[in-house]
Amino acid sequence: MCGIVGYVGRTSGRADAGHGALDVVLEGLRRLEYRGYDSAGVAVVADGEIFSRKKSGKLSNLLAELEARPLPASLTGIGHTRWATHGGPTDQNAHPHLSDGGKLAVIHNGIIENFAELKQELLAKGVVFESETDTEVAAALLGDIFRNKLNGDVSDGGLTTAMQLACQRLEGAFTLLAVHADQPDVVVAARRNSPLVVGLGEGENFLGSDVSGFIDYTRRAVELGQDQIVTITADTVEITDFYGAPAEGKEYHVDWDPASAEKGGFASFMEKEIHDQPDAVAQTLLGRSDLNGKLTLDELRIDPALLKKVDKIIVLACGTAAYAGMVAKYAIENWCRIPTEVELAHEFRYRDPIVGPNTLVVSISQSGETMDTLMAVRYAREQGAITVSICNTNGSTIPRESDAVLYTHAGPEIAVASTKAFLAQITAAYLLGLYLAQLRGNIFSGQIKDVLADLGKIPAKIQKILDNAGELRDLARSMKDEKSVLFLGRHVGYPVALEGALKLKEIAYLHAEGFAAGELKHGPIALIEEGQPVFVVVPSPRGRDSLHSKVVSNIQEIRARGARTLVIAEEGDEAVRDYAEHVFYVPETPVLLMPLLTTVPLQIFACELAAAKGFDVDQPRNLAKSVTVE
Ligand code: AGP
Repeated sequence: MCGIVGYVGRTSGRADAGHGALDVVLEGLRRLEYRGYDSAGVAVVADGEIFSRKKSGKLSNLLAELEARPLPASLTGIGHTRWATHGGPTDQNAHPHLSDGGKLAVIHNGIIENFAELKQELLAKGVVFESETDTEVAAALLGDIFRNKLNGDVSDGGLTTAMQLACQRLEGAFTLLAVHADQPDVVVAARRNSPLVVGLGEGENFLGSDVSGFIDYTRRAVELGQDQIVTITADTVEITDFYGAPAEGKEYHVDWDPASAEKGGFASFMEKEIHDQPDAVAQTLLGRSDLNGKLTLDELRIDPALLKKVDKIIVLACGTAAYAGMVAKYAIENWCRIPTEVELAHEFRYRDPIVGPNTLVVSISQSGETMDTLMAVRYAREQGAITVSICNTNGSTIPRESDAVLYTHAGPEIAVASTKAFLAQITAAYLLGLYLAQLRGNIFSGQIKDVLADLGKIPAKIQKILDNAGELRDLARSMKDEKSVLFLGRHVGYPVALEGALKLKEIAYLHAEGFAAGELKHGPIALIEEGQPVFVVVPSPRGRDSLHSKVVSNIQEIRARGARTLVIAEEGDEAVRDYAEHVFYVPETPVLLMPLLTTVPLQIFACELAAAKGFDVDQPRNLAKSVTVE
């Protein structure tokens, strides 16, 4: 998720600290570094001109650039840290993007879904683009409207009116900030499905993707609503909708300290990222299907004829990412009828695997730098396989060394324990499976449309789980002294059980083990003794092969031997109540999509229990966020 800052002050030097717009914007970007980024840039308005500097890499690269090529003092400025989505992390793709002959600067967070058609329209008008980004298209559209529709007239709203008209053309999720050389005391911003907050000062006003962007200067904030435009000067804040009708923002006082502001007010990045999951799934789905329910994965850029010939799929990953692959296997085999193997990457190339030109190797990696996975992908390519990367980090090594990439748009995942990336990986793998089914005609397009519609309902269902987790948190805190927790699951619930166990191992340093429920009688039931906590992820009662009744029997068996049965079940499933000490319900959803919901209570449980033990949830001992050695 990109970091965004905007500022307009009344003096080029702040009264209390002698800073100008640039210093305020840079301080805000520093505060927003936690969001993760791969390039940064600023623009200020001074002496009737726009001055902009931008660099790939860390903020230090931008600061060095500013040292070498200083900007003039200014009242008005914007700044951006970019988490690359469309276009790699390069200087050219960094924001701000300029238009209107360099007199207009724009920064953006989100995805402009219709940027391709807008780009064609602007190319036909002779616009020349320098980057691959959707943001530059938005900047060019805004500049074209400002110059050619409004004739650059700033007397009647100027940039504000241009932004309103531009936003009427944009589709997708976006927060946009713009400054223009002809309106030196104004920053105009717009938001749809992407955060933007106004900071209210004395003789100065601020904009930020979250309050961290200005918390050092003011704690008076105004939350903007959907489809709103805000125009700030040093002394005024005006809000309208996209058609110019006046609108209201909701003022509130920010009582977070700066450190917790970076975590959105949550106690840890992991907790924040668990709560980011509705957005992570929504963003991963965004722009990848059309209104007729047809997948539009043009970004894959693999000859459909090659994909139609695929006769085997091998998923390569490690840890949580491997469990995402295990979930996806059930869906891909159901929809595509292609044999799908899930391999731990570090085992793959040592078993002399059978790989050929019709093998599709799908790597899954949040960081895109996991050496075990990278080496396995390299091996697969040497064997002639087609390689697709599902990855959360734009421009990282594994996507670069793959034939194609399907990015998850979960935003940067800071906590070592993977949560939102896991759900986004499953979502992206579902999209890939549906795309293959669509290409091969395995399932009727109507079914694909139905699955996409069901996926579209997942974010709200995750939110419902998050909103009703109080009892689960209490249970987790009460269990902080437990020495062992077991996890059972069946079908798509089996990898969920494995992931639930991994979370507890990783951050609470607790013995935890996940099993396929059917395996219980083949050994693990010997572990059950009085008081042994066991989470059971129960299949939907609407599922096939009476799996539900088999798992209910498993619950009875362990309960009879003294286990504390903690059950995750689908709303309405009353059959489990008699045998469960606690039941945590998740909303009903199609069986293959259940992991997107049943995982969430297990993440919350692990996070809360580890916090209750006083451990550093975000940086657990012995672990790194990305394992870049074999
Ligand atoms: C998950 O919580 C762990 N941090 C770990 O298992 C991780 O999923 C694994 O190392 C793979 O990392 P990657 O997704 O960046 O490749």
